[in-house]
This record gives sequence, C-alpha cells and structure tokens, in this order.
Amino acid sequence: MVSLAHDIAREPGVEISVHEVSHRFDLEGAPLPVLDRVSFTARRGEFVALLGPSGCGKSTLLRLVAGLEPPTEGVVAADGARIDGPDPSRVVVFQDPTLFPWRNVRDNVALGLEAQGLLKQRGARIDETLRLVGLENFAKALPHQLSGGMAQRVALARALVNDPDLLILDEPLGKLDSLTRLSMQGEIVNLWRRAGFTALLVTHDIEEALLMATRVIVFSERPASIKADIAIDKPYPRHRDDPDLVERRREILGLLGLDASW
Ligand SMILES: Nc1ncnc2c1ncn2[C@@H]1O[C@H](COP(=O)(O)OP(=O)(O)OP(=O)(O)O)[C@@H](O)[C@H]1O
Ligand SMILES: [Mg+2]
Repeated sequence: MVSLAHDIAREPGVEISVHEVSHRFDLEGAPLPVLDRVSFTARRGEFVALLGPSGCGKSTLLRLVAGLEPPTEGVVAADGARIDGPDPSRVVVFQDPTLFPWRNVRDNVALGLEAQGLLKQRGARIDETLRLVGLENFAKALPHQLSGGMAQRVALARALVNDPDLLILDEPLGKLDSLTRLSMQGEIVNLWRRAGFTALLVTHDIEEALLMATRVIVFSERPASIKADIAIDKPYPRHRDDPDLVERRREILGLLGLDASW
C-alpha cells in the first residue's frame, strides 16, 4: 500500500484564507482592476473549485495564493501566516504540463526534490509517487513518448512528490480528451482523499467542479468578486446525473448568465 504520509508526523493540509483581496494590473498606463474584495477560507483538507468567466481573474487569484505575487490590497494567509513568496509546500499544476523534453519521466518528477537538495534523502519517494499516478512502467520514457494524459500525470507526480499541503490546479485537465479527463478527475480526487492536502482547482467545467470539489466558488466578470459560495456535501464517487448535482449545475449556469437548456 502506497501512502502519502509525511516524513514528520503532522496533519497534512493547510488553511488558506483570502481576506479582502483586491488586485490591479497596469495595462498601458491605466489600472486594470482584476479582483474586487475577494474573501474566503479554504479549510484544511478542503477541495475548493473556482468557477468564473474567462479573464475574470481566477488564475491571478491562484498566483497570489501560490505567493508568486503580492495582492494590491488585502491578505492571503496560510494557517494564519501571511503568504509573502512561493513555498514548496504549495505547488501549482497548470494546464500545460511543461515537462523538460530532454529529461525522462523520473527525472522530471525528481525536479522538485532536486531543487530543494532533498534528492538523496527522499529519492525513494519518486518511485512511490510514480506508482501513485500509475506511471511506474514509464519512468525511463521521454515526454514525447507520452500521451497528453500521461504527461499531465507526470506534472501531477512532480507536484505530489513534495507532499504539498496545498495543491493548486489551474485547469489541469483542460487540454485532455473527455474520457481521459473523466478518469483523471477520479484519480485526482482519490489522491486528494488519501493524502489530505488542501486543493484549489480552477476549471471551466461546471460538472468537473461538482464531481470533484467539497465547495464551489462562483466569480463574477472582471473584476472578480464572489457571486456564490456553494457547499457540495456529497460522498464520492459522485455521479453526474445525481439530481442534487443537476440542480446545482442549473443554479451555477444561472449565476454565470447561461441558461441550462443544453
Ligand atoms: N501580468 C499581467 N499584466 C497585466 N494584466 C494581466 C496580467 N496577468 C493577467 N492580466 C489580466 O488580468 C485579467 C485576469 O486574468 P486571469 O488570467 O487571472 O483570468 P482567468 O480568470 O484565469 O481567465 P481564463 O479563464 O481565461 O484563464 C485579464 O484581463 C488579463 O489580461
Ligand atoms: Mg486562467
């Protein structure tokens, strides 16, 4: 049995609080407001999905939580401590897996540990993580020898090898075909349930949010403010035709200004 237990005995996950966060960019000399007083808390071990119109500011919010830039106003905190830079305990997986083409699967997954000088100490963790994502037989393969879904699995393994407290997913399945997407949704949920990290997922797919998350936050058009914060209190695995989820889907489509006729 492969486990994602931490080296040191402690509870996995982290509480992320976003407090009154507003953010502006400078667009050719004019301020572009992107986030408007966004506040929410993702509790330890929670799986929060973020939905909203294209360009409303979702990826920007994830970047602030990852510590890649500071918010113009407000505070983003991890377990009560202000986030003021990136940290290996918070990892991001993007839509594009961005693997190094000349490094094999194992060496791509090793990157995170290598960067922290932990390769010797925790090398066994790499093989364990490859098993977790079902790629143990492809350790020596190069990225061009993988399918899109397998490449995204490598990106996921590269994130999980650090035993993150927070996994930030920015449309990680956006480029996958619908069948691979469905199976990856289930796999990510299983990994999350086993490991207990906190997850923040941006997706354009309402069904994906409803199948995976314990909570769905719906944003307005830019500058993004929170339109709804909906608890999805359903056991896993979930079914897309569950009447409660169908109703939620209808509700969210309405919030996004789309009708549910299709
Ligand atoms: N570095 C930047 N400088 C200036 N403007 C930026 C920068 N990054 C993002 N923006 C602007 O901020 C707005 C929000 O972008 P963001 O990428 O957060 O949207 P999004 O909700 O993730 O969209 P999508 O769903 O299409 O991925 C956009 O109008 C974008 O042009
Ligand atoms: Mg985005």
